[in-house]
Amino acid sequence: MRTSIGVVVAAALCAASCGTEAPEGPPFRTATSVRMLMGNMVDPAADLLWNAVGTVIDETGENHWEPETEEDWLQVRLAAMTIAESANLLMMDNRARDQEQWIQLSEGMADAGMLAFQAAEAEDAEGIFDLGETVYDSCNACHGLYWVDDADQGRAVESGN
Ligand code: HEC
Repeated sequence: MRTSIGVVVAAALCAASCGTEAPEGPPFRTATSVRMLMGNMVDPAADLLWNAVGTVIDETGENHWEPETEEDWLQVRLAAMTIAESANLLMMDNRARDQEQWIQLSEGMADAGMLAFQAAEAEDAEGIFDLGETVYDSCNACHGLYWVDDADQGRAVESGN
């Protein structure tokens, strides 16, 4: 009896710590750097969102624009969904600069993107305008820590980014 309990305990311990091989998972491709994601995906999506609704007052008076057609709204949904889902790409191995603040800041961007997506689904132009700031704040929060104020612009962690 004694020995068999010992064996069971040893087996359990081994199951917890003997696995040296990384768990199998989908073959995610993460060669695209944070910088490339920013420049080619996150930033263009944010621009689409920020430019979707606006008002300019000039000598011709007040000019307001907002999405009108179904195609216009699709562009806004595309932008918002891209921002929300890009957060997952930022949290992937090779891209995440740490497992704490970086993750929280990415989640902040995901939340802001999802709120914008819901406003886009509701075709709520005012909501899109207001949430533009929420999205902007989520970008800035991360840039302040990992890019702008960082002497090496967030490249501190060696990851080839
Ligand atoms: C979780 C962190 C994080 C979030 C959130 C984030 N960024 Fe970035 N961003 C970075 C880092 C780090 C860099 C610097 C990358 C480098 O140069 O290696 C960067 C760089 C950039 C750049 C410069 C890209 C280039 O070509 O040099 C742009 C533009 C940018 N981000 C836009 C945005 C926008 C817009 C948002 C929000 C919608 C956003 N980012 C959200 C971390 C973040």
